[in-house]
Amino acid sequence: MNKGMLHMLVLAVGLLGAGCDRSNIRKIEYMPDMYRSAAVKAQEPGAVRLPPEGTVPRNYEPYHIAWEDTLSADAQLNPLPRTMEVLRVGQRYYNIYCGVCHGPQGDGDGPVAPRMTVKPPVLYSSKLRRWPDGRLFHTITLGQGNMPGYGYAITPEKRWAIVHYVRALQRAAFPTPEDLQEMEALGLSPPAQTTRTE
Ligand code: HEC
Repeated sequence: MNKGMLHMLVLAVGLLGAGCDRSNIRKIEYMPDMYRSAAVKAQEPGAVRLPPEGTVPRNYEPYHIAWEDTLSADAQLNPLPRTMEVLRVGQRYYNIYCGVCHGPQGDGDGPVAPRMTVKPPVLYSSKLRRWPDGRLFHTITLGQGNMPGYGYAITPEKRWAIVHYVRALQRAAFPTPEDLQEMEALGLSPPAQTTRTE
């Protein structure tokens, strides 16, 4: 080994050693902010960063219908077809965002319901079965009374998918005679909810 190679080796080992220094004591801190990040609790002031002024979250679409303008709300049409794929998306987001209060089948008996002073209503009442899709979408977007709006959290497409799923829950609670016939033909027992009245 010549002298040059030896120097290289010493240098390499030295660099390796520096790289492997795992001790918490640093003699020189190049970027102290990154090394010592300030620990804040989740809800502490300063922990929740507000988006810079004039920016909008990704996929965010502003909603322009006023809460009390139910006529315009009703007129909105569901842009999504009622396919199995859409229903699955609706089911997924319903179970994440709505089921906690309204219950997995829309009975108003989700795990949070007992703690609420205003009970989450059943989602298959005759009133809601008559509501157009647009009105359901409107309520999900802006909320109502003790129910918060979800326009900020769920994209419009997923909210429309939830509307389709709420319709499926309503139909499960009140199957049409054809639904029952079809189930019988498939050898399936009728849903327990057929006895529901509301
Ligand atoms: C924190 C509990 C909670 C969550 C989560 C929640 N809701 Fe509600 N919801 C309520 C309550 C309580 C009401 C009754 C509000 C009122 O009128 O005072 C309500 C009302 C409604 C209504 C109107 C019912 C009526 O008869 O007027 C619809 C429709 C509805 N919710 C659908 C949904 C959907 C869909 C989701 C999921 C995106 C959802 N809710 C999430 C608690 C909740």
